[in-house]
Amino acid sequence: MAKTIFDQLNETVSFLKQQFAETPSVGIVLGSGLGNFAEQIEVEKEVPYGDIPNFPVSTVQGHKGKLVFGKLAGKTVVAMAGRFHYYEGYSAQDVVFPVRVMKLLGVQTLLLSNAAGGVNTSFKVGDIMIITDHISQFTPNPLIGKNVEEWGPRFPDMSEPYKKSLINKAKEIAATNNINVKEGVYLAVTGPTFETRAEYRMIHALGGDAVGMSTVQECIVANHMGIAVFAMSIITDIGIRDEENVITHEEVLEAAKEAEPKFSLIFRELVASL
Ligand code: HPA
Repeated sequence: MAKTIFDQLNETVSFLKQQFAETPSVGIVLGSGLGNFAEQIEVEKEVPYGDIPNFPVSTVQGHKGKLVFGKLAGKTVVAMAGRFHYYEGYSAQDVVFPVRVMKLLGVQTLLLSNAAGGVNTSFKVGDIMIITDHISQFTPNPLIGKNVEEWGPRFPDMSEPYKKSLINKAKEIAATNNINVKEGVYLAVTGPTFETRAEYRMIHALGGDAVGMSTVQECIVANHMGIAVFAMSIITDIGIRDEENVITHEEVLEAAKEAEPKFSLIFRELVASL
């Protein structure tokens, strides 16, 4: 008989508890070009995705694909260096599997990061945007299907998908360290194509400040299970303004790498404040 999602989660969680006995309170998901942030963690255990039962295996260039357990600013954390994207062919349920695992490991706060296209015309390449809200309606909702009442309600409230208190704290940290941060709405698309010029205009008209191919499915499941979420985008390209603009994956990775020190400082100090 095929394993149920409960069997799979139980198997994965007990495997990981054997690998690392402590309870992580903070989960971190590192987006494209941000994998080096894992170096900030005092690593106690690394587990490649390929070794973890029931974990999907990441394929996209620039993703390392391992779970990193250890200490960051005195807190016990688990970080995903590399995430799973819907465009890789995984189901929405596969994409969020690691978030459910994190919850069952004990994670209470989830920090998400991504590389995103700038749609707000005041944004520049290299800007950091704190995600204040999102538009998820262009990607499948991972909660479609039978609801698991033990995990959360059938119709979860999404009035504060990104925790206000964490947003305010991150803004304080940025101000203290003279880091200029933007705030805005992240609109999720499936990818893997970057947007056409007409699509960037549509996203702008709909109220998106940035566009990307990740994050919202993880955020939805975290909210469903009662995990507090904070998320930041690095603006790696500008979609809407430049008619000559052509986007490559290499440019995205390069811009993310450049903004990483500022991004890392905010994440680290935010974890310290928890
Ligand atoms: N669009 C979608 N996803 C992205 C982009 C973009 O312009 N840049 C980085 N990820």
